[in-house]
Parts: sequence; structure tokens; C-alpha cells
Amino acid sequence: MSPKQKTLHVGIDLGTSRSSISTSNDKRHMIQSYVGWPLDLVARKVLKRDVLVGQEALDNRSMLDLHRPLEEGLIKEGSEKDEAAVRELLRTLVKLAGVDPESRGGKELRAVVGVPAEALRVSKAQVHKALAGLVDRVMIVSEPFAVAYGLEALLHSLIIDIGAGTTDFCVMNGRFPTEDEQRTLTNAGDWIDEHLAQLVANRHPEAKISVHMLRQWKEDHSFVGKPKSSVKVTAPVDGVPTKLDITDEMRQACEGILPPIIETMMDLLAKVEPEFQEKVRNNIILAGGSALIKGLAPAIQQQLEKIGGGRVTVVKDPVFVGSDGGLALALDAPESEWEKMPA
Ligand SMILES: Nc1ncnc2c1ncn2[C@@H]1O[C@H](COP(=O)(O)OP(=O)(O)OP(=O)(O)O)[C@@H](O)[C@H]1O
Ligand SMILES: [Mg+2]
Repeated sequence: MSPKQKTLHVGIDLGTSRSSISTSNDKRHMIQSYVGWPLDLVARKVLKRDVLVGQEALDNRSMLDLHRPLEEGLIKEGSEKDEAAVRELLRTLVKLAGVDPESRGGKELRAVVGVPAEALRVSKAQVHKALAGLVDRVMIVSEPFAVAYGLEALLHSLIIDIGAGTTDFCVMNGRFPTEDEQRTLTNAGDWIDEHLAQLVANRHPEAKISVHMLRQWKEDHSFVGKPKSSVKVTAPVDGVPTKLDITDEMRQACEGILPPIIETMMDLLAKVEPEFQEKVRNNIILAGGSALIKGLAPAIQQQLEKIGGGRVTVVKDPVFVGSDGGLALALDAPESEWEKMPA
């Protein structure tokens, strides 16, 4: 085998709600970022497994000690179970890439991993620890930078990655972004879920609603601005399925992330060199699952009118754009960019 064939390059997007991997042998996989261990010996007998990962873990949650180990872009600190869960997620992604995490079949595994922009220094150490023994070489980069790299939007662009735990911003000036060119907010999908839960509970205190139901309602009906139709959902009230109108609550929860996102965007745009500001304003790219909220891109674009106008677009494939970007970077990176992991 030539050295190239012996090396497998991968891009990993370790996300709060979904994690994905893209590999140099053309594989792409996504898993829900959930890990669960059977609660007791009955659950163990039913499930016949020691640990469940992804959608399977979510589907069997009543029998599991279920963990979603990332929160606001960081591995929940001090919790051994959450640290073990992150390792399980990474192991599962590596296995899905066709590599045995223990032996690696004689291959060298090189991974570019995206983490939230501002937390880079803190989470870098956490991610390092979780990857020990799973990969041979690693490069940890900011999530929105990986997105920019994958889209080749490297010059005069602003990436806004609106995920579950964080919204990450990165201005691209044709080189590695500096700390000043990147920001992270915790106003993203999970924030909306929490606010929607509060608003719906205030209006319909009698209804029994789980976070999983709420999230599904949001993914089906999210919007900002004028509603196209009313949002009606069904939830049990005293055990009876009952129709609830949550149009106002949906709008209020989704619109809640707009002011901080707009403020941060304006701040970053004002810091761009004056002669390039118009170019960047016309090249604002939204990524991440929460960028799919109806009316969000036009609402952000409308705010740009105040400063001379601009253009906001949404990426086509928000699920794999981060891991594809990581892979592109892995394939281009010279030897000096890689950190060697302890065996
Ligand atoms: N159609 C939709 N409307 C609104 N929100 C959506 C929609 N589809 C997905 N989402 C939300 O997008 C978020 C997931 O997006 P994404 O996969 O980019 O996040 P992540 O990478 O897991 O999180 P992070 O980048 O913050 O770690 C979730 O909050 C999910 O509920
Ligand atoms: Mg993400």
C-alpha cells in the first residue's frame, strides 16, 4: 500500500444534537448525539446490549440512562458519564467510517474535528481527551471555519452556523480567522426549545409535553415574521389527545434568537476593513439546522438595509456541510498542521 492508501482522512462535526463524519473513501454518516446505558437488568435483557447510540438510544429512552453529552457547545464538565458518552459517539462515527477503532486495520486515521468558535481553547482539551486512542493525528478547528472551508467561501464572507447548542460566527478574510473574527452565542435551537416549552406551559398548563415533542413541533412549524397558517399540534391533556394552537408561542420563541444574532453580525461587519464591508455584507451564509427556520434569512437580510443592504443565503446541505469541510481541510493540510495523538 502507498502511504496515501494507508491513511484515512476524516472530517468530524461533533454537534450538540447531531454528529457527522465524512471520509476520504467517500462515506458520510450522521448520528443523533445521544448515548444510553440500560437502566437495570431487565432493560439489559430486553435490549441485549451494553450501550446504545444515536436514534436507537432515543427510541429506547424509557429503558436507558440517556445522555446528550454536549451542551452550549461544550462537553458537560465533571460528568464521567458524559465524557464516556462523547467517546462512544466518536467511536461510533469511526466505526461507521469502516474503521475498527481498536486495531484500525493498519491504517493511520487523521481527523479534523470542528468545535464551537469561541470555546476553542477550552473544548480543544476536552475533545483531545475524548479522541485519545481513537485517531492517530488530529486538527481541531472552529465549526464555522470548517463550514467556510467546505463551501470555499474563504474570502470576504461571513458564516453564521445556527446549530442546537450554539450559533457560531466567522468572518473569512482569505486566511485562518483570528479570535476577533469569530464569535459564539448560546442562542440557538436548544434555547428556542426551552423558551417554547415555557411559553406553551404558561398558556396550556394542563397539557403534558416532552422536550422531544416540542422539538418535533418546532422542526415542522418553525417561523419568524407573519405566519402562513396557524400552528396546531396535539398533546395529551389528562390522557386525552387535545388540539392546541401554539402559533404565537412558536413565533415568539423563534424570534427570540434574532436580536442577539443581528447584534453580533452588525458588530463583526463593522470590524471588517471599510473597503471590503460591502463584499462581506453580500456574502452572508447561514448554516446549521436552525437556519431552516422559515423567514429567518429574509429577516436577517432586512436588517442589513440599515447599513447599505446585503445578501443572506442558506446552505443547501446543512447536515454534512461541517464534516465535509473538515474532510476538505484534512486532505489539504500539510504535515506541520497535524497534532500527533498519544497511542
Ligand atoms: N426545520 C427546522 N426548523 C427549525 N429548527 C430546526 C429545523 N431542523 C432542525 N432544526 C434544529 O436545528 C438544530 C440542529 O442543528 P445542527 O445539526 O446544525 O446542530 P448541532 O451541530 O448538533 O449543534 P451545535 O452546532 O450547536 O453543536 C436543532 O436544534 C434542531 O431542532
Ligand atoms: Mg453544528
